[in-house]
Amino acid sequence: MGTRRAQSLLFLLLLGAASLASVQNLNCHKGVFTSIEEDPSSMFNWTTEKVESCEGGSFCQESLLMVKAGAKTAVLATKGCIYDGTQAVTYVQHSPPPGIITVSYTSYCEDSFCNGRKDLQELWRPAETLEASRAPSTSVPFYCPTCVALGTCVTAPSLPCPNDTTQCYQGRLQITGGGINSFLEVKGCTSITGCRLMAGFFTIGPMWVKEVCPYQSLPQPRKTENGATRLPVSVWRFELLLLLLLQ
Ligand SMILES: *[C@@H]1O[C@H](CO)[C@@H](O)[C@H](O)[C@H]1NC(C)=O
Ligand SMILES: *[C@@H]1O[C@H](CO)[C@@H](O)[C@H](O)[C@H]1NC(C)=O
Repeated sequence: MGTRRAQSLLFLLLLGAASLASVQNLNCHKGVFTSIEEDPSSMFNWTTEKVESCEGGSFCQESLLMVKAGAKTAVLATKGCIYDGTQAVTYVQHSPPPGIITVSYTSYCEDSFCNGRKDLQELWRPAETLEASRAPSTSVPFYCPTCVALGTCVTAPSLPCPNDTTQCYQGRLQITGGGINSFLEVKGCTSITGCRLMAGFFTIGPMWVKEVCPYQSLPQPRKTENGATRLPVSVWRFELLLLLLLQ
């Protein structure tokens, strides 16, 4: 119950009410970025030299989906005009660590070239920090095929799962909109049950995500030595993450 609440917790910061339609032309940074990164917080370059001129009454937007499985992180990002919505910054942690981490970020703003975020340092570092500090556990290790790839994974090595994960996830995300039309294959350890990596949030700015799991995730409840099933304890990690992000 608590875990579900945490997964669907939406961090929404309204910077202002919907603004009045502007008659002036708005210029926004424009670009589409899809890549697989080892270290997105220091390596991902979100600058673009392209410009889009929007009709009056719209916003500039920059939107991002990140999915980490094993050592790799898929980054799908877009910048440009958007014609409806509210001036706001949104950060959603769809699936929390340990295991597969899925987060999204969206910013809608109303001044020319305001969608100018250059990198992911503030958006991704907290998750990395938290993954490194795992609670001790007495459970028996298990393994999951682990990969993330644009299109299809070429290999999915079986890797040991972090403590507090409970099952193997295998799924495919189809991301469309904002100039993106990509499939993402994701496999790995998680504490999420079923085909719910996105935790019910499927819209990320102009991007729309469809989640399909061709194979049913196999629950692998972990047993302690006396045979009792352990429950994942990840709510506190999630709340810590939000605190770090707000600093
Ligand atoms: C990012 O890319 C732009 C060109 O697209 C380049 O001018 C800039 O130096 C790069 N920034 C970093 C930190 O590499
Ligand atoms: C899980 O916890 C045990 C006991 O503290 C530790 O030995 C093991 O390395 C941990 N496993 C992982 C994958 O962190």
